[in-house]
Amino acid sequence: MRLILLRRLGTDGLPPHAEWIKIPPMKKILLLGSGELGKEFVISAKRLGCHVIACDSYEGAPAMQIADESCIFSMLDEGALRAAIAKYRPDLIVPEVEAIRTEVLVDVENEGYEVIPSARAANLTMNRDRIRDVAAGLGVRTAKFSYAESVEELHAHAKAIGFPVVIKPVMSSSGKGQSVAKSESDIQASWDFACMGMRGDRKKVIVEEFINFEFEITLLTIRQKNGPTLFCDPIGHVQERGDYQYSWQPQQMNHDVLKAAQEMAAKVTADLGGAGLFGVEFFVTKDEVIFSELSPRPHDTGMVTLISQNLSEFDLHARAILGLPIPSIECVEGASAVVLATKEGNDPTYTGLEEALNERGVDVRIFGKPTTRPYRRMAVALASGPDALVRARTAAAKITVH
Ligand SMILES: Nc1ncnc2c1ncn2[C@@H]1O[C@H](COP(=O)(O)OP(=O)(O)OP(=O)(O)O)[C@@H](O)[C@H]1O
Ligand SMILES: [Mg+2]
Repeated sequence: MRLILLRRLGTDGLPPHAEWIKIPPMKKILLLGSGELGKEFVISAKRLGCHVIACDSYEGAPAMQIADESCIFSMLDEGALRAAIAKYRPDLIVPEVEAIRTEVLVDVENEGYEVIPSARAANLTMNRDRIRDVAAGLGVRTAKFSYAESVEELHAHAKAIGFPVVIKPVMSSSGKGQSVAKSESDIQASWDFACMGMRGDRKKVIVEEFINFEFEITLLTIRQKNGPTLFCDPIGHVQERGDYQYSWQPQQMNHDVLKAAQEMAAKVTADLGGAGLFGVEFFVTKDEVIFSELSPRPHDTGMVTLISQNLSEFDLHARAILGLPIPSIECVEGASAVVLATKEGNDPTYTGLEEALNERGVDVRIFGKPTTRPYRRMAVALASGPDALVRARTAAAKITVH
């Protein structure tokens, strides 16, 4: 960390006992992606005195409403991304989404810019195939998988793995283009659906063994600049259409299984390098834990930590990337439940907020997205204490987006 060193001078103008006061300067952060996770991260970073430039492809994005400055461009556009970095010359480049021209991040890291957690991590997690290959290469247990670039290949690989299989575009997020094929007759529809949900122009899918898990978890893993790798208590969650609906912390689980998950998370994140918080996803079956995927940044299911931990995942990310200490992470029972839009629209309004908030231990975060579309996540209800999950889901159900 760059430090401004102030020397206290003695009355005679000479340094008396070489006493130094260290004042950390304000860091300039270029945030790539300005959704609801970015917004909470900006709040955490601003509380620690940072200057944040929030970037995204549209005006009025959630994080832009809090940041010092904003910059609107497509982060998949190489020229525009390079221009933004050259214009602001940030101390830290903090990706908040996957859809970034990550080759640029690799280049600028070589030029001396600091990319969070590392350009390698951003680059390898942009597509599902790269990070899956890294995990498998490290000997981490994953679902059986292979890749297909045509419907014929998909038929062959699905058959070899055994039905049912899960099919996902290698380049997509939030469940887009993802489906389960129960038999050969579903393959064509799954291929077409994946091609529709694909980001970028690369027609490639991952086809995976369907894991009949008991539950799935996100293990928030923090790599520090000056300390050991830390873990939050596991977060349980439920997904629909490949998108998270509600989450809770702590997920009760067998100690040895949790230890195994922590070891895998430590191994994969160490390979990616750098400092920051990672969301590592696992499936937990009766007798084993299986690595699924990873985000090198705060995770949507981790929004529960806004109410369940003394330091939220956003506070932890901010501290880790600034090289600040994290002496302890404390967790109480908590839960989160999403509030979704049902149709297309602009300037949404919300009803039912009074009813939702009129309950002890319940809180709500409205993201402030300027437009709606079916299933778009607009807000999250949070609850702490006993029955947190029931209370978070009840609160979320009371809120309607218009
Ligand atoms: N092999 C599998 N077996 C069973 N369920 C799966 C499998 N792969 C994915 N799922 C289910 O689909 C959900 C979403 O899949 P995944 O996490 O791979 O993609 P994603 O959510 O689109 O990615 P992101 O988390 O980046 O948004 C998982 O959380 C899990 O519930
Ligand atoms: Mg996921």
